[in-house]
Amino acid sequence: MEYKLRKAEPKDVPDILRLVKELAKYEEMENQVTLTEQDLLEDGFGDTPFYHCVIAELQPPTTDGVEVVGFAMYYFTYDPWVGKQLYLEDFFITQQYRGLGIGSHIMRHLSDLAMKTRCSGMMFVVAENNEASIQFYKRRGAEDLSQEEGWRLYRFDKESLVKMASAREE
Ligand code: ACO
Repeated sequence: MEYKLRKAEPKDVPDILRLVKELAKYEEMENQVTLTEQDLLEDGFGDTPFYHCVIAELQPPTTDGVEVVGFAMYYFTYDPWVGKQLYLEDFFITQQYRGLGIGSHIMRHLSDLAMKTRCSGMMFVVAENNEASIQFYKRRGAEDLSQEEGWRLYRFDKESLVKMASAREE
């Protein structure tokens, strides 16, 4: 099997959304994906991209036309204690192509990018029931910050934001 990793282009948006949904399904949260191809197009390929993707593409495509078999979506964040961080948001390889080294290749690619951009780390969130992927990360040296440092993940949803944004000053 021949494949290559490459930076996603606007034409890849349908495949990116398909893989985002496949990962959400794998995590049993498929119904939470409300994003559209239009959102992905506007947010990833304008003057200020909010995300980047590297995709794994079969070469040549399979006889039934499958080309894109995996991806990682990432962006850069800033930690006021240690500086630039690469944030791995989504990482997925289509089931039948897992265990062939594509995921490790993507991790190598992202680690190299993190070094070239002088990031001090790579952050990500994993569902606690995704044991296979936790072990994949741990074998590569990842630390569980929830356990070791006691951080908890929080979110303001849109309703809370609207409420705060429209709250009048006392
Ligand atoms: N499926 C998965 N792993 C297998 C399989 C298989 N069928 N067969 C063997 N493995 C082992 C490999 O030996 C390897 O072991 P290693 O860690 O000692 O190297 C490891 O599992 C897989 O290595 P790769 O082949 O390099 O990685 P892969 O291409 O399978 O990609 C990934 C890894 C992305 C975790 C993939 O398995 C996947 O898509 N899993 C389901 C979705 C998922 O959990 N994604 C991560 C969510 S967390 C986030 O997005 C931040």
